[in-house]
Parts: sequence; structure tokens; C-alpha cells
Amino acid sequence: MTTEERVEGLADLLVTTGRLTEPLWREGLRAVPRHLFAPEAAWAVPDRPRYEGFAIDRSADPPTWWNAVYSDTAIAIQLDDGAGDPLSGAGTWTSSCSAPGIVITFLQELRPLDHHRVLEIGTGTGWTAGLLTWRLGPGCVTSVEIDGSLSAHAAGNLAGAGLDPHLVVGDGAAGFAAGAPYDRVHVTCGVDRVPRPWVEQCRPGAGIVLPWSPGWGIGHLAHLTVAGDGTALGRLTGPAGFMMLRSQRRRFGGPEHAAEQRGQAAVSATRLDPRSVIAQSPGAEVAIAALVPDVRSHLEAAPDGSYRIWAIENRADEPSWAAANFEPGRADHTVRQYGPRRLWDEVENAYLQWVTWGAPARERFGLTVGAASQKVWLDRPDHVLAA
Ligand SMILES: C[S@@+](CC[C@H](N)C(=O)[O-])C[C@H]1O[C@@H](n2cnc3c(N)ncnc32)[C@H](O)[C@@H]1O
Repeated sequence: MTTEERVEGLADLLVTTGRLTEPLWREGLRAVPRHLFAPEAAWAVPDRPRYEGFAIDRSADPPTWWNAVYSDTAIAIQLDDGAGDPLSGAGTWTSSCSAPGIVITFLQELRPLDHHRVLEIGTGTGWTAGLLTWRLGPGCVTSVEIDGSLSAHAAGNLAGAGLDPHLVVGDGAAGFAAGAPYDRVHVTCGVDRVPRPWVEQCRPGAGIVLPWSPGWGIGHLAHLTVAGDGTALGRLTGPAGFMMLRSQRRRFGGPEHAAEQRGQAAVSATRLDPRSVIAQSPGAEVAIAALVPDVRSHLEAAPDGSYRIWAIENRADEPSWAAANFEPGRADHTVRQYGPRRLWDEVENAYLQWVTWGAPARERFGLTVGAASQKVWLDRPDHVLAA
């Protein structure tokens, strides 16, 4: 199969899955071929729920490598900030070539227009920066990457594709003031709190597309527009799960000391199916994230069909936590709550509040990023959800 056929095959797949809707970006996939940005050997994970990853190695197994590169598959290029072996897949992903479906979704959402100046946060492999540079031409795209070795590698990839965006090594949370004002900000790492410089470095009417990852569930694509008063506001338009901006990283997994603390936890029962609060309704996840701030979820599934749903406070010292067990066939489900906050009660109340609102879908929620605060709203910016 030729590279051209592979590119068309990927574009056709993304049309079929509803990801690619604008013919312009089919042209982009042709002009900026993904294989020029993919690592020689790495760990790949198809962008489908519960899909296992697999190793890819261009010289040892070319067909698997090419198939992964030209399918809707994310490819890890760095684990544990460079301490892990990307070929093993074991460790925390700290950089990747994101799956094409989500890359194209974000670019379509961004809608860059001719002559726009775009700031990208998270250069990674440089593929997205390359697609933006192809779209806008020279001098319009600045991409910031916190890891100097990744940025250098991306520069090589981009040169190989004949593209030359302005690459900056630094903390993207500060934006890049020297290149302001921007018409678009394109963020490819997750944030809970949207850094103010991204808003301040934009002109009024500019668009900011970012993965909003408040910690409850996987996360959401947020499309904000900068208003004349220096706020940025807009709706959540779809799912988005990305690795976090470095300064906003949080722990994975259950609470560190849950086993020792279990005996001190308050035990109760709930009639609510605990599975309702996570991975079932994105709208409920937004409501819970807004009404139960600074709390992350963690889901454990067992082969017998039982689940444990964790709610864990985002703090290093003695986080409060709650664990609700779903066991098939039971009328009531056991809940354990540890620490000063009763997190299951908070989560269950937030979920039931969402039900009384008529179970609104994710797309009815929005975010406003102000000078000193960030708010989540339902339907209209003045319908703020109060924690
Ligand atoms: C999902 S990858 C980006 C994928 C990339 N856009 C591409 O096309 O290959 C996320 C990137 O964000 C970078 N990153 C994380 N925190 C950052 C920060 N504070 N400033 C700049 N880059 C950051 C990571 O190092 C990583 O390379």
C-alpha cells in the first residue's frame, strides 16, 4: 500500500467515525503526513474505550507500525518525563502524538482563518503545529513545549516536512507574550484551571480551544471566546482526554493510604447505582466537577462485573476519600468515607441535583474564565453552578 493510500484510508476512517467533517483537513492530512512525526519505536493505543496498547517498531515490524500511524491511534513518545521506556507502555504518558481523530476535532473546533496568529501549547511531536503552519503559512504559528528535548525533536520532524513554525521552549502556562496578540490559542494538554495569560494574550473575539480536565471523568473539549472585558467564555463541545499541563498534574489511582485508613472510614449504604456518577453521562460529570471541586474520580472494574468508584480529594496531605462498591444483584451498595469531607455524599447530591435539572447534556454547560475566578454555568453565563 502506498503512503497516499494510507492517508486516504485514515481520512476515510475519520469521515466514517464523524471526526473529519471539513474537506480542508483531509488536505491537511495529505500535506503534513503523520509518519514524518511518529517515533521509530513506541507504544501505541487505539482511541477506543478499553483498548489495549501494543508496541510498534518501524524496522522490526513495518506493517504494524504503518497501520498504527495511519489509524486513529495515540502514540506515546515519552513516559515519566523521559525516565520510562516508551516501547514498554509501562508508566505515565508525558508526551504523545495524539490520535488523529481528536487532533482533527480540535483543529476543526479552532477554525483558524487566513492571517490568524495561533499559539499552541504542547508541541509534542510537532504534528499539530505542522498542520496549523500548513493552514496559515509562515510566521503565524508559535508552539510552546516545556521539554527542550521534545521541542528539538519536533523541530527536526517539522524540518523534514518542510514546515517552520516558531518553536519556544518554556512553560506554556505563561503563554508567549512576545508573540501576542493571538487570534487563536490551541491547547494540547489538559487543564483544570485555565491560565490567565492565554486569555490576556488574545485579542477580543479570539478563540481558545482546550481540554478541560477538572478531575471527575476523562475531560471535555472547551471552546472559549475572549470577550471585551477580558473574560473568556464558551461551551463544552465534546470529550477530550489529554495528559495534564505539567503544573496541574495530579496523582493517578486510588488514595495512597486507603488500606491503612479503611478501618477509620465511616461505612454506609446507598441505593443509587454507584456506576451512575462516572463514565455514564458526561453532563453529570460536569455537574459533579462543578459542585464538588478539587476532587478526582478513579474507577476500578473487576472481571465479575463489580466496580469500585473512588472520589479522592486533590491534595497531597491526608486527602479525604470515598469508595462506593457496585456488586451485581445487590439492592444497596456499600460506601466508605474517610476524612473531614464526606465525598460520596457530596458526589451523590451533585448527581441528584443534575437529575433535577433534567439531566442536561455536556453541551449545555459552559465555562467563564475571569480575572480572579473560573465558573461553570448551565445554558447561560449568568446561571452559574455554585459549589
Ligand atoms: C499530548 S502532547 C501534545 C501533542 C502535540 N500537540 C502533537 O501534535 O504531537 C502534550 C504535550 O504538552 C507538553 N506540556 C505539558 N505541560 C506543558 C507546559 N506547562 N508547557 C508546555 N508544554 C507542556 C508535554 O510535554 C507534551 O509534549
